[in-house]
Amino acid sequence: MDRKKYVIIMAAGSGTRMGADRPKQFLELDGKAVLQRTIEVFLEACPGISVVTVLPEDFIGYWKDYCLKHNFICPQILVKGGITRFHSVRNALARIPDGALAAVHDGVRPLVTPAKVRELFDRAENCPGVIPVVPCVDTMKILTPSDSKDIWKENDGQNVDRSVLFGAQTPQVFQSEILKAAYDLPYDTAFTDDASVVSRYGKSLSYVMGERLNIKITTPEDLILARAVTSLLEQGYSL
Ligand code: C5P
Repeated sequence: MDRKKYVIIMAAGSGTRMGADRPKQFLELDGKAVLQRTIEVFLEACPGISVVTVLPEDFIGYWKDYCLKHNFICPQILVKGGITRFHSVRNALARIPDGALAAVHDGVRPLVTPAKVRELFDRAENCPGVIPVVPCVDTMKILTPSDSKDIWKENDGQNVDRSVLFGAQTPQVFQSEILKAAYDLPYDTAFTDDASVVSRYGKSLSYVMGERLNIKITTPEDLILARAVTSLLEQGYSL
């Protein structure tokens, strides 16, 4: 039987690397906030999905006003973020029952496609969790800082075999009782995504191909790229 679907939209970061007046999830992408675009992908992929949006405490009022002003009428459970992403996810999981499927998605990844979201939910019916990844295309280096602040040096000439390296994306989709139990673990700085928490809890995850354009908007250059892609998609280009 199909499990009920939830998505936790992570949007409680402060976005300091962007250097803008607001966190990057609230910046505009072709006429709509990045966060609205992100949520809309899930509503299109899975009508009836329950949306839990995690926000900085100071921006909860801002987001309610934004949704009203832009006629973005979507039932959302609004949750206050925590000190790290891990603590923000944990706050959101308190609102999700066992026996469901829970996707955790970065609010600053609006370019994931509805087809990929559906694929990940479908696969998670039959395994503890599914993680989208993209193969590493650059040659990777292990470097350490040098005396000069903008130059790094090689660490004993170690080489990295890039054929075994992948970048993890979101949404990462889990059977909710497993994700909730994993998030009872004590916090560790190594927990930079949800897969790392569930793996530490001892569950074996499935890794599937992600999407190269599903970028995490982090820097001003990312926003330029996302605006260009969004504009092309709105003109009818397909991925
Ligand atoms: O900091 P990082 O780029 O890894 O953040 C990924 C996502 O997690 C962003 O969408 C950000 O808003 C969210 N986040 C959060 N709570 C935090 C830190 C980050 O919801 N305390």
